[in-house]
Amino acid sequence: MKFYKALLFLSLSVGSIFSYGQNPLFIPPSLTGTNFNLNVQAGTTNFYGSILTPTYGINGSFLSPTLIVNKGDIVTLNVINNLTVQTTMHWHGLHVAQMNDGGPHQIIPSGSTWSPTFEILNNAGTFWYHPHGEGKTDLHVSKGLAGMIIIHDPAEQALGLPSTYGIDDFPLIVQSKAFDITTKIAIANHMDTALFVNGTIDPYLDAPAQVIRLRLLNGSSMRTFNFGFSNNMTFSQIATDGGLIAASNQLTRLQLAPGERSEILVDLSSLNGQTLQLMSYSSEIPNGVYGSPLVGIIPDVMEMYMDNFLNGMDVNLLEINVVNPTVTPVPVTSIPSVLVPYVPYNVLDVTVNRELIFDTIRLLPADAPNIMEGPFAINGEVFNHDSIEIRIPLNSTEIWTIINKTLIAHPFHIHDIQFNIIKKNGIAAISSETGWKDVVLVMPGDSVQFITKFITFSDSMTPYMYHCHILHHEDDGMMGSFIVFDPNAAIPEKPENDFGLNVFPNPTSDEWNISGNWKNQNFSFEVINILGEIVFKQSNQEMNSNSFLTIPSAKFPDGIYLLQVKTDENTHTIKLIKE
Ligand code: C2O
Ligand code: CU
Ligand code: CU
Repeated sequence: MKFYKALLFLSLSVGSIFSYGQNPLFIPPSLTGTNFNLNVQAGTTNFYGSILTPTYGINGSFLSPTLIVNKGDIVTLNVINNLTVQTTMHWHGLHVAQMNDGGPHQIIPSGSTWSPTFEILNNAGTFWYHPHGEGKTDLHVSKGLAGMIIIHDPAEQALGLPSTYGIDDFPLIVQSKAFDITTKIAIANHMDTALFVNGTIDPYLDAPAQVIRLRLLNGSSMRTFNFGFSNNMTFSQIATDGGLIAASNQLTRLQLAPGERSEILVDLSSLNGQTLQLMSYSSEIPNGVYGSPLVGIIPDVMEMYMDNFLNGMDVNLLEINVVNPTVTPVPVTSIPSVLVPYVPYNVLDVTVNRELIFDTIRLLPADAPNIMEGPFAINGEVFNHDSIEIRIPLNSTEIWTIINKTLIAHPFHIHDIQFNIIKKNGIAAISSETGWKDVVLVMPGDSVQFITKFITFSDSMTPYMYHCHILHHEDDGMMGSFIVFDPNAAIPEKPENDFGLNVFPNPTSDEWNISGNWKNQNFSFEVINILGEIVFKQSNQEMNSNSFLTIPSAKFPDGIYLLQVKTDENTHTIKLIKE
């Protein structure tokens, strides 16, 4: 059985190494305007011979259209779930309100439509969208649900960059996938030996002999790529995850982890008639990164890692045939060196520092091998749909330090905001690490510090997510929730509720007493200060009809606090005042 399986993997993958460039690169159709219909559907796709692989797609059987929007547009996205299962749809990198974010809390049941409406607030750049269902992200993305979002804005348009979609401005969604024995796309399978660009295996692209723009998105479940060209030519990086950078970066290699994006300009003017390849020089990827020659330290290497021939191999991703320049649009022939002003957040404004530690959940004896398989926890916790790990006051400027104590590199992603990397292992970030980011690859043993600010959207109930963008790590719980709350928002002092919650005295100087028509249920009580820190906590407190809970407050600094009373079903928030 095992041998047969290996043979099948081999026969499915031979094409990708030895006979590339056979299929024209699929350019996902683009949708423009302000009202988008996204039909999420199941279908089949013909990747190999006569085999029909069951897949998911949007407005088609595989992959998703590219959404092209302008900063300032108010858009409505109608996500119509025609699957037989529930899903969600997340706008990765977009600065949108909690309820529009499409994380695990915005479930779209089978047969229903979710229609968030929001303003495009991000600057010009390359973003993407994909499902984010609890425990189901890898499955739904692997089956084909992933699309690009392109944002344009006036500052970008003034630069005269190539921007005619599919003509001189190309989306490249690069993914590796594993096929199981029955030809279904498998998930969390380390035999991800099939390479796809825009859902095309062995793709080629006829590209005009002029400056072209490639929007690179690593949409893989776990694999990192190290992009470069077969003729070793220099290209210009112009954007990171969150949009354009200050000045173009001249590179011959560019590494992108899952979830990361970059835009590059490639000058093909002098190459008319020639062929070159966009490669992943994976032999150069450092140890610990999935895709490199090795993850782990011999003999404790990741299980089956060496069986996957893509690991550490320099592979062709896309063959580029250079053809005559375009007539329209007028070919772009030069690359601007100065792009857009870059004003990162200022460390002098920081009021809160937080630390996130990645570690293995040691269910196994401490010396057990293969601890690079996970599951992994953040600050000792795995994802719990109902708990909030971090509470952030609106407009807080913060430094987050991400520490990786595992033997595998994790691409850390946070929703809602873009950040600036300021330090790696205590050393100030180098210029190629600057720019707006929402994913950062944290190497084994490393710590990464970034600065960010939580602006615009507050919601005391609905969280955003942060997580590892290796999708099976995320699905296995390497994810947490954060709330952005407005400390100045008017919170009812005595909310409407079903158990007559009351606080007395309030304001107080020494204690609050909490009473209610308790129904012999268990309650948990938390008092949160203005910085979002929990200053009092009483979990699983059984309350019967006459009991009340006393919270001593004499030691609390004067000010406003929030009391959260939780049952299994809901949370009630009351404003407390200490004076
Ligand atoms: Cu690309 Cu939380 O996701
Ligand atoms: Cu995201
Ligand atoms: Cu991870």
